[in-house]
Amino acid sequence: MLGLASRDYHKFIISILPATALLLVYITLIPRRKSSTNTFPLIVDENSVSSLSSRVVVILLIGVGLETCLFGFSLSNLVVAIAPGVGKALSWVFLIRTTQQTSVAVATAIQTVGITATIDLSVLSTHMQAILCISSTVFALGQLVHMLPKQMKYKQVVWILPLLVIVPYMENTVAISSLKSAAQLSFDGSPDHPVEAIVNSAKDGFENMKRVQSQSYIAAHNEYTRRYGVEPPPGFQAWYEFAVSNNSPIIDEFDTMTKGILPFLRLSGKEVMEMMNSLQNDTRSEIWDCTFGTREAQTRCSHSHRYWDRHIQWMFNTLLGNLQIEVPNIRFFVNHLDEPRVVVPPRLTEKGHYQDRWLSLRNFSHQSVYDAIIKPCATDKNGYQSEKNDALTFGLPFITNFSSAMDLCQHPEYEHQHGLIMSPVSFKLIEGPVPVLSTGTLSTMADILYPSPAYLEPEFQYEESSDIPWDEKVNKLYWAGSTTGGFATDGNWRSYHRQRFISLCQNLGNRQHSYLQKSDGYIKRIKSSILDRRLFDVFFTRIFQCTWKQCKNQRNFFSLKSWAHKDEALRSKLVFDIDGNGISGRYYKLLASKSTPLKQTLLKEWHDDRLIPWVHYVPVSQSMDELPELILYLTSTQRGQQRAKEIAEQGHEWFRKAFRTVDFSIYTYRMLLELARLQDPAREAVMR
Ligand SMILES: *[C@@H]1O[C@H](CO)[C@@H](O)[C@H](O)[C@H]1NC(C)=O
Ligand SMILES: *[C@@H]1O[C@H](CO)[C@@H](O)[C@H](O)[C@H]1NC(C)=O
Ligand SMILES: *[C@@H]1O[C@H](CO)[C@@H](O)[C@H](O)[C@H]1NC(C)=O
Repeated sequence: MLGLASRDYHKFIISILPATALLLVYITLIPRRKSSTNTFPLIVDENSVSSLSSRVVVILLIGVGLETCLFGFSLSNLVVAIAPGVGKALSWVFLIRTTQQTSVAVATAIQTVGITATIDLSVLSTHMQAILCISSTVFALGQLVHMLPKQMKYKQVVWILPLLVIVPYMENTVAISSLKSAAQLSFDGSPDHPVEAIVNSAKDGFENMKRVQSQSYIAAHNEYTRRYGVEPPPGFQAWYEFAVSNNSPIIDEFDTMTKGILPFLRLSGKEVMEMMNSLQNDTRSEIWDCTFGTREAQTRCSHSHRYWDRHIQWMFNTLLGNLQIEVPNIRFFVNHLDEPRVVVPPRLTEKGHYQDRWLSLRNFSHQSVYDAIIKPCATDKNGYQSEKNDALTFGLPFITNFSSAMDLCQHPEYEHQHGLIMSPVSFKLIEGPVPVLSTGTLSTMADILYPSPAYLEPEFQYEESSDIPWDEKVNKLYWAGSTTGGFATDGNWRSYHRQRFISLCQNLGNRQHSYLQKSDGYIKRIKSSILDRRLFDVFFTRIFQCTWKQCKNQRNFFSLKSWAHKDEALRSKLVFDIDGNGISGRYYKLLASKSTPLKQTLLKEWHDDRLIPWVHYVPVSQSMDELPELILYLTSTQRGQQRAKEIAEQGHEWFRKAFRTVDFSIYTYRMLLELARLQDPAREAVMR
């Protein structure tokens, strides 16, 4: 009925168990005349009463036991869980007491009321469902009133019960519709919403970027030298020709990769190899040692004690195996873990050389990595300054500068906002200057970024046939997934990124949301506890990465869905994507689709230069304080809907141009050229 999720089953048990138990207690204790026609076949005569009451005690004990299993034993839990049920049961007991005749039908009616009256109407996806739910409550009550004896007084009092459900529901509905109409009144008439200005400037930036890509090898060469202050690596011309012949829309935008590799030039080629050898020497290093052979253009990877490389070797061979490319034989290290690995604490000589070549391995499993990973911030001239753009965004943290939003040095609050920082699953940190390839990294870390093999795996591919046109999609934000992202050993899970996201969207806890409204021509920020739950189809489907107790607490805290189809997201207009333990493998499916991806991430990826926030996807801040307003705008105003649709189309288009398998090859080819130069034994250290 109404697709009861597991949480509703819990509620069902909560409300039904004590009610039923108390009903039984009461029935047991009713004094009975022997001659009366007994409507309860359970009760045969007075002698059986004592055995029945012992049965009731057992049932009660089972009830409390079950409660304890589900929610853990704590008095407050128990009171909160049982109180409504007890209240309900007592009122029914009162009603029944005043009657002389009770029947099993009454108990059934009570149960029906119990179930329907405890469903949270504001979560149901349509008003129709809510009306159905209320109607069945009313119907069951009608049945009940009808069954009660005519002479009974005050029985009309039961009609208060549906009011207790209907009144808050109506109140909520009215508040939500007034929020929506205020948003429409404020922003449909003129493009004053901050999202408009941000989107327009992002679009201009993107058009400009496409226009200025180098049109000749000389131009590309000069652009490289201008950006990075060094010559391009040997083989660059052949790479350029390869990129052009494959219609790469991107020629110059490789800052994320290049700026990740260039700092290692402080070591000479020999020193780089020494560092790699000493890392490889350590069995705790947990890295894959790969070699690329020029002659057959094949990559081979090995590990000191593992066999399953999570498709690393397969990916390199898929991307480069059949190409005639000119890369010397090289060796490179790949990290197969989801988490980033390398931090290079600032230990430089006055001339900018690394002071010494040290290497240390540390295990941060289930511990905060914050202090270790912000060490590089010490040399950052900005220190802890963050760029605030409050005037443009009316105090809401809409992302206006992506790199600044990702920067740990500018955001000390991230220490307590992300599971990967607070309590990572493994986090085997390598401290020291050694090049290691990872799929995602944090702003202060030194992993070199390569495209995740997950993006090429069949499971994560977008198929047009499983998508539907924009107009047929439901006007909601969708996300379903598990509690990856941090390991919960204590109550801190409430601050992990995924948990914060779900509890915001499920409106758990008494929080105030910010919305923008125009009054007298000025945009103001208002606070409200109202969140339209219907706009958020957001659930955990699996609770894990937690101690037994914290798993149980989380199961109790969140509304869960037992299962979600892998393409369910594509049925919604807005689809969310959020970091797990590392990068999110499902992102490209969302990007390629006809839905609008909203993305929250702290992890840099290989694609950061080619994927433009507010053009191809909608970025969401770590605090998510702007999310309620953002979703209201994108779903409930015409202008916002238009923006969302445009972003969906732009992402869909760009994905087909800039995220082809050959685009991965172009990136990987250029990366190998950089790595080959880095470890060229003839290369001297560069002072930078
Ligand atoms: C690797 O370990 C071996 C023996 O454990 C040692 O002799 C060798 O010097 C080490 N190599 C490096 C580069 O640290
Ligand atoms: C890392 O630490 C965790 C928890 O302290 C421990 O379970 C794990 O075995 C450690 N791993 C290594 C490789 O030492
Ligand atoms: C974004 O922030 C960075 C600092 O994190 C700054 O260097 C850059 O100029 C900013 N970009 C824009 C467009 O303001």
